[in-house]
Amino acid sequence: MEALKGVRILDMTHVQAGPTCSQLLAWMGADVIKFEPPQGDATRGQLRDIPGADSLYFTMLNCNKRSITVNMKSPQGKEVFVDLLKECDIVMENFGPGVLDRLGFTWEKIHAINPRVVMGSIKGFGSTGPYAEFKAYENVAQAMGGAMSTTGTLDGTPFVTGAQIGDSGTGLHLAIGLLAALHQRDRTGKGQYVEVAMMDGVMNLCRVKWRDHQRLTRQSLAEYSVPTKVGMGDVPRAGNDSGGGQLGNAIHCKPHGPNDYIYVVVQEAVWANLANLIGPALGLPELAGDPKFANIGERRNNQQEMWALITKFAANHTKREFMAILNPLDVPCGPIMSTSDLANDEHIRGREMYVELEDEKRGKWWNVGMPIKLSASPAKIKRAPFLGEHNDDVLKNVLGYNESKVSAMREAGAFEVSRKT
Ligand SMILES: CC(C)(COP(=O)(O)OP(=O)(O)OC[C@H]1O[C@@H](n2cnc3c(N)ncnc32)[C@H](O)[C@@H]1OP(=O)(O)O)[C@@H](O)C(=O)NCCC(=O)NCCS
Repeated sequence: MEALKGVRILDMTHVQAGPTCSQLLAWMGADVIKFEPPQGDATRGQLRDIPGADSLYFTMLNCNKRSITVNMKSPQGKEVFVDLLKECDIVMENFGPGVLDRLGFTWEKIHAINPRVVMGSIKGFGSTGPYAEFKAYENVAQAMGGAMSTTGTLDGTPFVTGAQIGDSGTGLHLAIGLLAALHQRDRTGKGQYVEVAMMDGVMNLCRVKWRDHQRLTRQSLAEYSVPTKVGMGDVPRAGNDSGGGQLGNAIHCKPHGPNDYIYVVVQEAVWANLANLIGPALGLPELAGDPKFANIGERRNNQQEMWALITKFAANHTKREFMAILNPLDVPCGPIMSTSDLANDEHIRGREMYVELEDEKRGKWWNVGMPIKLSASPAKIKRAPFLGEHNDDVLKNVLGYNESKVSAMREAGAFEVSRKT
């Protein structure tokens, strides 16, 4: 049995942050009904690569869901929403501030309609505070949650990270909150409002930077490769520094293309092994005993020289070869994997982290798989729904509407933007 079998979700989410969460819950077995405006989630048409097919932006975030189109700006559409609300365990949204309230559905009203329903809400900055009224996208959240000011190099502009910590990261946070609230609901009979702000989620993922922010009031950050001093205030951008107690860096390898790097952590325990490998090869047989690198403190002080030596050694090896050399020495390391590297990686395929799907409009396509592996109920990934594909199914089988009711509602504009609304 799937872990969330029997849990039904009214999923009003769009774009990336909310759909990340509902897709995960669908992969755990929840019945997710994607409740879309008649024109559909805007991402269906964004970054489209095949005419007439939903974009990968949409399909990769909406697998295993059913799609129903409802015009919430019509009275009949609101009626469908209320009826569905009564049949669901969770309702979730990530509209701009105040959208659901303007449609007439505050949390208080939703709670009154179905006291058992758990409501999940993602906002850029939450529902309280000076920023509450602002919309947000991924990079806005990365900017305001502390990620950008701490990513990049000291002398360059702040950088966003490729990992979608603002959108997908917030979706993960919401999933945890919803499951906790569902667990509580099962004991108390009462649903609650679960809110995650993207800015808060990014801050949470930058936790180690707040560790360093406070350390800076008492000490410099010896492990940073850029200068730091007590009282300097802001945590600086520090390139590819490891961010923890061990030294780390990205090392360029043969044939020196843009992704021919390997990240190497010079853990205290492995320095002697590493020095005994690269020292003799570089004509420095005494490297392991060199006082400049005798302990982690000395290696921190002389880390640029140490990285130069490791880079010189790496120049004769590809990133995969260097990994194969370092693994038996127990040196924590990882080649910088490009998207092509990952798409063709045996380990990734074996773990079902890049899965093949097919649908009649797009043909074959690939999705990133389910990263949470449940031993008793592994995810079975199914294609994303076409727009409104399950209108009849949901209206008749979930809500029990008969054909004449569906027709009357359709005529009244419940499922499309009609002349009457
Ligand atoms: C992402 C975001 C910036 C997009 O902004 P947007 O395209 O202007 O969309 P909004 O959510 O503000 O508004 C949606 C509109 O569609 C309407 N709508 C949504 N579902 C509808 C339905 N089923 N039927 C009819 N109308 C519907 C809403 O009523 C609203 O209209 P209004 O502006 O007249 O009130 C915004 O939704 C947002 O800030 N969300 C919260 C943060 C977030 O999740 N961001 C990350 C996205 S990956």
